[in-house]
Amino acid sequence: MTSRIALRGDLLDFTADPGFSPAAEAPGVRWRPDHWLLIENGRIINALPAGSVDREADGGPDARWQRIDHRGRLILPGFIDTHVHSPQLDVIASHGGALLDWLERYTFPAERRYADPAVAHAGAARFVDALFAHGTTAAVVFPTVHKVSAEALFAAAQRRGMRLISGKVLMDCNAPDGLRDDVEQAERDCTDLIARWHGVGRLAYAVTVRFAGTSTREQLAMAGRLCAEHDGVFMQTHVAENTGEVHWIAGLFPEARSYLDVYERYGLIHSRSVLAHGIWLDDQDRSLLHERGAQIAFCPSSNLFLGSGLFDWWSAEAAGVTVSMGSDVGGGTSLSMLRTLADGYKVQALRGLHLTAWKSLYTATLGAARSLGLDREIGRIEAGNAADLAIWDWSVGPVAIHRDSLAGDLHERVFAWVMLGDERNLVETYVAGALVHARS
Ligand code: GUN
Ligand code: ZN
Repeated sequence: MTSRIALRGDLLDFTADPGFSPAAEAPGVRWRPDHWLLIENGRIINALPAGSVDREADGGPDARWQRIDHRGRLILPGFIDTHVHSPQLDVIASHGGALLDWLERYTFPAERRYADPAVAHAGAARFVDALFAHGTTAAVVFPTVHKVSAEALFAAAQRRGMRLISGKVLMDCNAPDGLRDDVEQAERDCTDLIARWHGVGRLAYAVTVRFAGTSTREQLAMAGRLCAEHDGVFMQTHVAENTGEVHWIAGLFPEARSYLDVYERYGLIHSRSVLAHGIWLDDQDRSLLHERGAQIAFCPSSNLFLGSGLFDWWSAEAAGVTVSMGSDVGGGTSLSMLRTLADGYKVQALRGLHLTAWKSLYTATLGAARSLGLDREIGRIEAGNAADLAIWDWSVGPVAIHRDSLAGDLHERVFAWVMLGDERNLVETYVAGALVHARS
């Protein structure tokens, strides 16, 4: 039977990169207040101004459509989180320590538990539902080194019809017992996982090198082979996050020109590579990323929490490097992309760059979809795309409600929403037209 849903609300999405231009002049912003959004069998088919077609006789959705009236609320494409760790919900908000110390003290012990299939499956379900409860409908995710943790994540996403990119974490050195693989077993596991999940429904495999510090040269070479041998697989890793880490990697790989060059030497930098952080890159690194079409996942919440540094978005953009947004939970302290964007604004303000709400929201929706090569499926409210959507209240609580009532133009209103909003503003989340989260 055909499923038909009509959602009424204020549609906001993007048709192009609004760039860094002042708010009022931004191109690519698509604002469609009070529209009916028509969804058939999980796909967007049309958007019609509500006033003109309110009645069936005027061409509005007829009795075959389930009408859901969110008048006065915002409807956006579901957010895309391009860097997040599913098992790290267990250690989010753990006190003290910069990156390497934090990994040893909190993260590695927590990740060891995911060898247990029951822990892995429960953790994957909790994580995916938590993304939906924050308005995120697609993500690029690190599970753990254990094959079962990747299987559990793929299975959880598949059951919910969600777009997910993930892969078993590769780490064969400099990690505690219970968290190391070896090259041969890891290659077999990756090959099995690719055969089982890559390109199945809305799932894609990412060759997942934790970072250069936890893979031997042999394992990095194997990861490069996987990228070369399997069509359309992604690659995800961390790069140049923290100065202590950068020095450590320079000592481990003296033959490399830079941290990024370690990955380049093994064929890991390509158009489906997502590299988290990239705070301590230089111009040569940025031109390589541009040449290869690889992207940086900017993770401001994590960068602040772990004291890693202030990402230079302006230089990345000037070099033609694509930037997307990652929550990086549990280095980051929230799965909310609104909070992540608010932190991103503040980090960039410290560098003298004042991001508009348009640039921020574009980056967490269509920008990410484009950089992943998925913009015909996700990231905008367009006929043919999947109905991955989030419905938001403009304001919650007396301060935000008051501020919202005083907003002059649309940018002022949307900017205040980004800065003051979080998951409390989220009313409903849809994935492929199915309701996956409703505020209780
Ligand atoms: N570098 C290597 N592993 C990690 C991780 O789990 N989180 C962060 N933020 N950086 C990393
Ligand atoms: Zn990370």
